[in-house]
Amino acid sequence: MNIPRTPGNIGTPLSPSATRVMLLGSGELGKEVIISLQRLGIEVIAVDRYPDAPGHQVAHRAHVIDMTDGDALAALIERERPHLVVPEIEAIATAKLAELEDAGAITCIPTARAALLTMNREGIRRLAAEELGLATSPYRFASSLEELRQACAEIGFPCVVKPVMSSSGKGQSKLDGAGDVEAAWHHAAAGGRVDAGRVIVEGFIDFDYEITLLTVRATGAGGQVETQFCAPIGHKQVQGDYVESWQPQPMTAGALANAKEIAQKVTANLGGRGVFGVELFVKGDMVWFSEVSPRPHDTGMVTMATQVQSEFELHAKAILGLPVNVALRAPGASAVIYGQLDQAGIAFEGVAEALRVPESDIRLFGKPESFARRRMGVALATAGDVDTARARALEAASKVKPVSA
Ligand SMILES: Nc1ncnc2c1ncn2[C@@H]1O[C@H](COP(=O)(O)OP(=O)(O)O)[C@@H](O)[C@H]1O
Ligand SMILES: [Mg+2]
Repeated sequence: MNIPRTPGNIGTPLSPSATRVMLLGSGELGKEVIISLQRLGIEVIAVDRYPDAPGHQVAHRAHVIDMTDGDALAALIERERPHLVVPEIEAIATAKLAELEDAGAITCIPTARAALLTMNREGIRRLAAEELGLATSPYRFASSLEELRQACAEIGFPCVVKPVMSSSGKGQSKLDGAGDVEAAWHHAAAGGRVDAGRVIVEGFIDFDYEITLLTVRATGAGGQVETQFCAPIGHKQVQGDYVESWQPQPMTAGALANAKEIAQKVTANLGGRGVFGVELFVKGDMVWFSEVSPRPHDTGMVTMATQVQSEFELHAKAILGLPVNVALRAPGASAVIYGQLDQAGIAFEGVAEALRVPESDIRLFGKPESFARRRMGVALATAGDVDTARARALEAASKVKPVSA
């Protein structure tokens, strides 16, 4: 394959000059990245494992493949010849992406190594704690129930057990004593993306609050990659899944400086260009690194209301080598709209009522099938202060009712 490593000038979509970008994963975050790319005249190819995914509905071409199948992935890349390959989810054949990148056949965003390291908690945790010396929760890994008992005894209780490959809190448990270990092992085995049979045990951090620090690596005026930080995003998680986020999260100057230092170190090591969601726990001025997404973050959906350029626009511009603006426009919040029903082709009541909430907005992702705990949309709101914005976003979200069509 003969593909330029940087896109250079932007061409005309669907013509020989087109600048082509392939999204691997086309959920609600990918959909917004695609819309941002479309606005810049990029030809977008959306890939997911099921038909009519949110991003499929706004791309030039849509493909359905098993993205964990390296051969299927390589064949599709060969066929579409994208200038940039943009992983949107973790569950993809990242080893194959690394192979293609090494061979000069693709440019992976931000780098294939970043995608590979962050899809497995062991990769990113060992990098952060053991190579970069960042503060993290104490941790152990275990590959059997017996090893897990030993690991939990060493870490102590309370602790948190998670499959090494999982996201959105799937397979995750908080353990209060030795009596919880066996159930946590079975829960992890059932909830892991692939039953890797391996888990991480983390000491429970009694943080004051947690943040996502959106960190952008984009080309600066001098042509070099520069690092910029969005205002910190606070969020609330229920069973490891985000339900509410707001921006800016008030922080002490010391905590913010520590957070930026950690984010700078980990993103500089992962390299490349684009948005990273650096997840951090904060207590007083103390900051712990938790994990990082080498792509826009679900809690960052709030930036569609709060920032001059949303995290999706920032990602689109940064990956194309364009300058970005991380400025905050107004304090704001987001609140998740869940499916509530287990059904395909549902409808949403109350959108008009939701939009009567002052300074509110709604996104419905267009997912073909609803599950009770599936994220189907999000309510956004701005206000003069974060507390008012949170109340508005929650009120708007509560007005939207999934119903059988
Ligand atoms: N060691 C920990 N101490 C306290 N809370 C934790 C710990 N690990 C995870 N959590 C809570 O669970 C949430 C999800 O965990 P995380 O590691 O981010 O998993 P995921 O990859 O599924 O997002 C975190 O945002 C945090 O609220
Ligand atoms: Mg997380």
